[in-house]
Amino acid sequence: MRDGNLKQVGPAEIASDLLVWYDVHARAMPWRVPPADKLSGVRPDPYRVWLSEVMLQQTTVAAVKDYFHRFTTRWPTVADLAAAEDGDVMGEWAGLGYYARARNLLKCARVVVADHGGVFPDTLAGLLKLPGVGPYTAAAIASIAYDLPEVVVDGNVERVMARLHNLHDPLPGSKPQLTELAAGLTPAQRPGDYAQAVMDLGATICTPRNPACGICPLRSPCVARVQGTALELPKKTPKKPKPTRLGIAYVGRRADGAYLLERRPDKGLLGGMLGWPGGPWSEGGAAEAPPIAADWRLLGAEARHTFTHFHLILQVRIADLPQGANPEVGQFIEPETFRPSDLPTVMRKAFDLARGGFDNTP
Ligand code: ADE
Repeated sequence: MRDGNLKQVGPAEIASDLLVWYDVHARAMPWRVPPADKLSGVRPDPYRVWLSEVMLQQTTVAAVKDYFHRFTTRWPTVADLAAAEDGDVMGEWAGLGYYARARNLLKCARVVVADHGGVFPDTLAGLLKLPGVGPYTAAAIASIAYDLPEVVVDGNVERVMARLHNLHDPLPGSKPQLTELAAGLTPAQRPGDYAQAVMDLGATICTPRNPACGICPLRSPCVARVQGTALELPKKTPKKPKPTRLGIAYVGRRADGAYLLERRPDKGLLGGMLGWPGGPWSEGGAAEAPPIAADWRLLGAEARHTFTHFHLILQVRIADLPQGANPEVGQFIEPETFRPSDLPTVMRKAFDLARGGFDNTP
């Protein structure tokens, strides 16, 4: 990694070297217009760019692809999405996590249709006013969909900038400096392709643990390569360890196969999603009373899941509920309507444990 000397290369040349690389190595993605097609005048669809960028926040390209396909097949335009039932959208989002994104997605689609005639605004300021669209997403849409020279900074871009400039100040404090460095390289020509090129470089060459400096198009101006510091960068301020919260999932099933589920309140974690009764979760322990009196049996295994700020361990309790049961919370969902794939991951884990505990689980 230390071989080869540092070469002074100006920002315009760095951007153009990266674009030459991107013309050959751009990753194929379902929401992307490849560089060759752009030359023949094909423009990216802002709806698809927006949807993909919202899905890609905190989530990998591999995990997003199937969701993106299902969403765009079911709702091909922003007007289709705006007209969707809330529960259908939350169900399709289940498993992607960060459910506030899905609630904002619907809000945003409805604002674009009601206030903008179904067309996404084509300025950074206009995009920033949309629900759930923060600085990253606004810059990504402006740049990728409308080819405006906005500065797009995600984790990949931070890593590439920190290494290229050998910046050792730790994240998240160094974010403004890294954004400044990224701004200094953003070209006026093909800014949308350039933004995607930096992200692709970070995802495929300038990777966190195994950077392929030997084949990197930016190897000659990269200070971290010459100094041998690439693997240390970007530095990060250590995070506080996550606490563990405990809770209960009451998985109740009627003889006809209907399950007792509740729709979680819109505000808060897993907001708007279906789940098993049994909250709240706390570090002190799980004590929530069952949603209905029944012979609740405790399963030996627990559902474990890690959220952004804490680990969760759910005890799973199951019961056969009488046909005429009238619970205090939640609603029965008939077997024909119930799709386990509509559940967020932790609730799905609880269900997968619970279903084996019932007799004759379909
Ligand atoms: N990560 C998030 N958005 C991306 C994009 N448009 N291209 C490559 N990687 C990405």
